[in-house]
This record gives sequence, structure tokens and C-alpha cells, in this order.
Amino acid sequence: MTFDIRAVESLMAFWADAGVEVAYADEPVDRTVQTAALLKTKAEAPTGRRTVQAAPAPAARKMTFAAPVATPPPPAAEDARRLAAAAGDLDALAKAIADFDGCGLKFEGARQAVFSRGNPDAPVMIIGEGPGADEDAQGAPFVGRAGKLLDRMIAAAGLEDRVFITNTVFWRPPGNRTPSPDEQLACAPFLERAIALVKPKALLLAGGASAKSVLKQTTGILALRGRWFEWKSEDGSLEIPAMPTLHPAFLLRQPAAKKKAWEDFLTLTERVDRPDRPA
Ligand code: URA
Repeated sequence: MTFDIRAVESLMAFWADAGVEVAYADEPVDRTVQTAALLKTKAEAPTGRRTVQAAPAPAARKMTFAAPVATPPPPAAEDARRLAAAAGDLDALAKAIADFDGCGLKFEGARQAVFSRGNPDAPVMIIGEGPGADEDAQGAPFVGRAGKLLDRMIAAAGLEDRVFITNTVFWRPPGNRTPSPDEQLACAPFLERAIALVKPKALLLAGGASAKSVLKQTTGILALRGRWFEWKSEDGSLEIPAMPTLHPAFLLRQPAAKKKAWEDFLTLTERVDRPDRPA
């Protein structure tokens, strides 16, 4: 059997994006041979007798969304709040995050804490969901395939060197699963402190898990994207416009959706470059 190596690489990248990163078995299983044998048995079976039963149809997937954060923050969030408040600059905040033991993700196989990259005086802060495998290995957010796409969009929208990039959680969720609301709550005081230290003119929330957590929304990302919300700090001292957009990993799987994300980036640049009204 011959393989097109580019097709195989592309398929593996697709699975890696989807969070599949361990092999099911050491040897590949050729399902086409299995299927051919199965079809042969079926064809040879005497009529009227069913030898192969159709699998029952999978139950329809039920969409569930995290409840709005009416639940009290986990006890770790208090610790995080104290540590975050004591961090006077972004370097101190990065150290406080690395030392923090209150988010379970730290103990679920992550190699290191992943905090931020970009311009500390940026007018735009981009907040993703959580680090993936490449980010976990390199210690910086959005450095894998999705990050490369994000960088191209940032540059094309005229925002190169004008963004600060971080995530709702600072350790890689195992298997690239979505971070849980509790994990996001435990990390939220650090994220809020980062926003307060950078003081961007706008927040761009990449993906549903980011938008829902940061804006305390339950609506899906397709309804939220491209709209402006007002993000408020816990103590109400800071208010910053925030816009959800589609996650770049989603755009890699659904290229047709890039048009919508591009519209969001243009809206963002327009807002950031709009001259401030005199007070
Ligand atoms: N996806 C995210 O949400 N954040 C990253 O840092 C990388 C991929």
C-alpha cells in the first residue's frame, strides 16, 4: 500500500487539533480489510438470516452550556486573588502564576505554566481558552498551528506588535479538553490582574470557552461573536470593551468561517484606532 505523505501529515494534524494525541494500539489496524471480510460474510449468509446487526443509532448529542457563574468561586480563587494583587508587574504576575498550586490542571500532566506573549503596553489583549501541546512545550500561548493563523490575522488587520496574548487557564488541559468553569475561576484573578496591568483598549476573546468565562455568558460563540460587550473588573474600577470571536483552531477546521473572524478583526482594529473622544 502506498501513502501520500502530505495527506497523512494533514490527517495527523487534524487529529492533533482535535486533541487526539495517543495511539489506540502500537500497530495500525487496516479497517478496510476488516470491512471487506465483514461484507463478504454478510453476502454469503443465507437469505432471511441476519448475521450482521446494524449498530444502534447514536443518541442525539445534547448541547449543554456551563451555567452563568452564579456559583461561588472555588477556595483556590481566594488564594489566587491575594497572590495576583501582590504582583506589581507582569514578571511578578508570571512568577505568582507559576507558584500557584490552586488550579488542578497544574497536576494533570502539564509541563509548565504558560502565561503570555506580546507587547505589555498593547492596545489589544487576546484571551484564548488554554494552552495546547505546543504551548505546553514552549511555554508561550498560541505558538502552534492555531497560533500561526492567529498571527497572520493579527498582522493582516494591522495589529502586529499591538497585542498581548494570554489564556483563561495557564496549564494545558489534558487531551486538549476545554477547561472547566472551576479551573477558569481558579485562574480568573490572575487574568484580571493581567488586564489591569496591561490596561488594553479592547479585549478579543478567542473561542466560546474564553467568551463565556470572561463575560459570564452561557450563549454559544456563534451568537456572541462580533458583538461588543463591556468587561468589568470584580471591584468595578475597570471597564473595557470586549468582543468574542471564533477560535483560530476552529477556523483551521472550518476555513469557510474565516470570513466572519476577519470581519471581527476589522471591527476590532477600527475600534482600537478610533481617536479617543476628548473627556
Ligand atoms: N488555543 C488556545 O486557546 N490558547 C493557546 O494558547 C493555544 C491554543
